[in-house]
Amino acid sequence: MGYFQPLIFFVLAAFPFMFISPSHSSLDHENVKNLPPAKHVGNVNLSLYYETLCPGCAYFITSDLVKVFQTDLYTIVNLRLIPWGNAKIVGDKIRCQHGDDECYLNAIHSCVIHLWPDVKTHFRFIHCTEEQSLEGPVGSKEAMWKNCSDKLGFRGDMINKCYSTGLGMKLLRRYGNETARLIPPHEYVPWVVVNHTPLRGDFEKFVKYVCDYYQGDPKPEACAKQSSSVSSTSTKIATEIHPGCYAEQT
Ligand SMILES: *[C@@H]1O[C@H](CO)[C@@H](O)[C@H](O)[C@H]1NC(C)=O
Ligand SMILES: *[C@@H]1O[C@H](CO)[C@@H](O)[C@H](O)[C@H]1NC(C)=O
Ligand SMILES: *[C@@H]1O[C@H](CO)[C@@H](O)[C@H](O)[C@H]1NC(C)=O
Repeated sequence: MGYFQPLIFFVLAAFPFMFISPSHSSLDHENVKNLPPAKHVGNVNLSLYYETLCPGCAYFITSDLVKVFQTDLYTIVNLRLIPWGNAKIVGDKIRCQHGDDECYLNAIHSCVIHLWPDVKTHFRFIHCTEEQSLEGPVGSKEAMWKNCSDKLGFRGDMINKCYSTGLGMKLLRRYGNETARLIPPHEYVPWVVVNHTPLRGDFEKFVKYVCDYYQGDPKPEACAKQSSSVSSTSTKIATEIHPGCYAEQT
């Protein structure tokens, strides 16, 4: 995939330094708070509410959302990923739609977003694990992400530490609160929101919405090209093969 070619080159070229360290102090919580993802005035807020083991989410992330970074669209978008989906708090435990493995991987995603707050960076990991999830179950929990962290140079020890100290679950609960505050509430995932407007069944056409909302001039090239985007037929077929996950199915 074209998007990853430069990355592979980078990893090889930078081999001696290949572990992408979160800028020095990212494990230091004080500093993490001072390093939010870049937000540019006038950019369009694009938020994806998802859960890691829903095939519809994995398909959307790997086939559609990835276009944000394959084009110049990322220059006008503040993309946020919120890995909670249809999970629920039952008693004092988190119950996920696709079981404990999903809670675990949601927490791992929460950790990676926290440790590498730049969305261009953490998206690579999320894209990789979602692509792998479409290939089916793997032997162990860690196998759901370890190949990705190895391949992309994210430090697995830092990810494990975030999870084992309970930070991952804490971050995940925060995403649960954020999801619960959605107005209107989400009905299924993937649930895509552009500047407070849920796209509902139009989520695969998010590029059009982002471009329409963007007030800046000139618009990025991705906006000029988007008229030739996915036809409704191919969208329909894709959605049938990789259905979204409805909140009631839990
Ligand atoms: C991870 O990588 C190893 C070695 O390259 C491979 O044998 C294994 O199938 C991969 N696992 C998954 C889940 O892709
Ligand atoms: C989530 O919301 C509940 C209830 O409002 C609150 O008690 C809890 O501290 C929040 N959790 C996090 C991690 O923000
Ligand atoms: C985008 O999100 C930022 C940060 O959450 C917020 O301050 C801003 O008002 C949002 N912009 C729009 C147009 O919703």
